[in-house]
Amino acid sequence: MSAHAVIEAPTSCAVLPVVGSDTLVPLVDGRSVPYANLDVAASAPALQVVADRVNEVLPLYASVHRGAGYLSQVSTALYEAARQTVGAFVGAREDDVTIVTRNTTDSLNLLAGCVPSQADGSPGRVLVLDVEHHANLLPWQRTGGATVLVGGATVAETLSGLRAELSRFPYALVAITGASNVTGESLPLAEVVAAAHDAGARVLLDGAQLVPHRGVSLAASDVDYVAFSGHKTYAPFGAGALVGRRDWLDAGTPYLAGGGAVRNVTLEGTTWQSAPARHEAGSPNVIGAVALASACDALAALEPGVLVAHETELRARLVDGLEEIDGVRVVRAWADAVDPVGVVTFSVDGHDAGLVASYLSAEHGIGVRDGRFCAHPLLARLGFPAGAIRASIGVGTTGEEIERLIAALRAYVGEGAKARYEVVDGCWVVSDDPRPLLQVAGLSGLFATAAVGNITAAVGCGPAPA
Ligand SMILES: Cc1ncc(COP(=O)(O)O)c(C=O)c1O
Repeated sequence: MSAHAVIEAPTSCAVLPVVGSDTLVPLVDGRSVPYANLDVAASAPALQVVADRVNEVLPLYASVHRGAGYLSQVSTALYEAARQTVGAFVGAREDDVTIVTRNTTDSLNLLAGCVPSQADGSPGRVLVLDVEHHANLLPWQRTGGATVLVGGATVAETLSGLRAELSRFPYALVAITGASNVTGESLPLAEVVAAAHDAGARVLLDGAQLVPHRGVSLAASDVDYVAFSGHKTYAPFGAGALVGRRDWLDAGTPYLAGGGAVRNVTLEGTTWQSAPARHEAGSPNVIGAVALASACDALAALEPGVLVAHETELRARLVDGLEEIDGVRVVRAWADAVDPVGVVTFSVDGHDAGLVASYLSAEHGIGVRDGRFCAHPLLARLGFPAGAIRASIGVGTTGEEIERLIAALRAYVGEGAKARYEVVDGCWVVSDDPRPLLQVAGLSGLFATAAVGNITAAVGCGPAPA
C-alpha cells in the first residue's frame, strides 16, 4: 500500500471484502438491517482472504519450532514466513527484528523493557505527548522514565514544544502515535523523526491506527520501531507485531520468562536467546501470525492510493454531514492537522454519548464507540471529560453506512429517539428491549457497554468519575 497518492476510487463501495459485511442485526422496530460496523478502529472484521487463508492452514497446524514431525516443520516454516511478510509490510530494514506479539499494547510493554537505562542506572528517558492512547503512555510511565508533554492547539505549536523538550534532556526515545485513535490526526512524521534524531533520541511509532489505514515504511521514514495490532488490521486472530532496531531488542529484558526464549537453562542460571526468540517465550501464535501476514499481503496488493482515497472521501462526507447538524461537535486535537485517517469523534450537545451510541445501535443497526477511547488525558484536555462518540472507517466501509449514520443523528437531534432508554448498572440499555437474540451457540443475552458514570461497566473507557 503506498501512502498519500490520491487517485479516483469507487468510494461508495468497500475496497476489500470483509467477513460478515452482510450480517443482519435486529432493530427495536422489528426490522433487521445489515450491520453498519463503524467501530473498525477498535477492532476490524477479518478480510475474506484472511479467513480463507486461516481455513487453508488450519489442517496443517502443528507444534512449531521444536517439532520434528512433517507438519511441525510446515507450521514452523509458515510462522517464519509470516514474520518476514509482516516485517516487509512495514518496510523493515535488513537488521530490524520482527517480533510477533499479541497486539499494540503488548508490543509497547515489550519495548518498554528494552529502553536502555541512563549512565547512572536510572530508567532511560522517554518523551510522550498527552494525546496518546493509554497503551502508548502507561508502559513508559511504569518504567519511571516518562515525560508527558501537553500538546499544543496546533501542530506547529506541538512540534515546537517537542523540540524544546528534546533540547532539555537527553531522551532515549520519543514514543508517538502514527494517528490518533480519537481524531485520526497526526503530527508530520518526518519532522518528529528529524527532531528526535537530531537530539539523539529514537522514535517509536504507535502504528495501531496508522498501519491499517495508511501503512508505514521504517526504511523510508527512518522511524526506529513500529507497533501495531492484527485485530485492527483485518486479522483478528490474536497476533500483533513490534518491528525495529535489533540492538535494544537483543539486550532488553526478555518480555516473558519461559520456554522458547532461552538457549540453555541450569539451576545456576539462564542463557537467553537474542531477538526475536528472546521475547517470544511460550508457544507462538502461528495462526495469528499467518493471518496477519495474509492481511498485510492483501493491503500491500491494493492499487496505490485506493485505500487513502476511499477513507478520505468517506471521512470528508462524514465530517461535513456531522457539522451540518445542530449541536454536533467534531473533536479536533490540532486546528492545522492535515490528512487525518478515517477516525472521527464527535459529541451531541446535551446528550450522553452512551445514550446516542445505544440509539444508533437499537434504531439504526449502527455500531460506533462511546466513552473516552482509552485516551483520558486527551479527552479531558479537549473538554470532553464525559466522553464522546467515535465513528471509524476502513476497507469495508460503504457510503451507505456513512449516510445512514448522518441521517440517524439528524433524526435524533430533530425528533429524538423512538424507543425508551434507561441506565442499568451504569449502562444505557433499551427499556424492555424487544430485539431477538441472534441464533449463535453460547449467546444468552446482550452485554451493554455504552455506559454513563459507571467505570466498571464501561471497562475503563467511560466518563471520568465525578
Ligand atoms: C492508537 C492506539 N494505540 C494503541 C492501541 C492499543 O491497541 P491494542 O488494544 O490492539 O493493544 C489502540 C487501540 O485502540 C490505539 O487505537
